[in-house]
Amino acid sequence: MEAKQNDMTPHEAARALRWLAEMGADDIIAENPVNRLQPAPPPAPRAASAPAIAQVVAPALSRALLPAAGVSSAAGCSSLAEIEAALSAFDACPLKKTATRLCFADGNPQARVMLVGEAPGRDEDIQGKPFVGKSGQLLDRMLQAVGLSRQSGERDNAVFITNVIFWRPPGNRTPTEAETTMCLPFLIRTIEIQKPDVIVCLGATPAHRLTGKSEGILKLRGKWLAANISGRNIPLLPTLHPAYLLRQPNQKRLAWRDLLSLRQMLDAH
Ligand code: URA
Repeated sequence: MEAKQNDMTPHEAARALRWLAEMGADDIIAENPVNRLQPAPPPAPRAASAPAIAQVVAPALSRALLPAAGVSSAAGCSSLAEIEAALSAFDACPLKKTATRLCFADGNPQARVMLVGEAPGRDEDIQGKPFVGKSGQLLDRMLQAVGLSRQSGERDNAVFITNVIFWRPPGNRTPTEAETTMCLPFLIRTIEIQKPDVIVCLGATPAHRLTGKSEGILKLRGKWLAANISGRNIPLLPTLHPAYLLRQPNQKRLAWRDLLSLRQMLDAH
């Protein structure tokens, strides 16, 4: 990967370096061994090449299979603010009754990258913004290591973050299929309006719902798939959820590979 110019403060640079070390980077070397005794080959052409998209034709997400209440409420929205307002007025999802508040989205609506998580946790339920707790802090450090941020005002360096589910499931339990299905029309409309170049799924739930695949996240992660939204195939990369990485820090190196693949895809387009 070509080194990117950025305007990190020394403190941010130190944090990014710490994150690399946490991921297992203990030396400045490439993934593959290099025979330094051989004469150097001629320099390779410099154009960045995009990672291959394993499955370009994703199954279309059929609105016919989604609950009519959500579909008609989401269909009437023509901006992200209208989706948030429609969700505030939407009473068909039982999770709304037990949650403190709606948690819709955060980040730059113009961003090229949309991140989709599973569901708000305790901190997100309190603040009404996705990924603001411990796993969100790790996510921010991961993004920063590849030059991306939810605070960036520049489309190319920015991310937009949302979830499959917009209200916290009690006790952070995994949302049921009925709950994700109920919320899906709003996620699909969000994608239609935000128009990301690339979607990154954090964990299995968004990857399954947006691609129709059912393999475990350790099988799916790192492979470029596609979400078929309104006839458009959007490149989609499943990766490990930051909450999982907090429990299994030795898996951070896999997440790092996925982030490098994301960077490569963005640089190539
Ligand atoms: N986990 C998620 O999947 N989403 C959040 O917003 C927070 C934690």
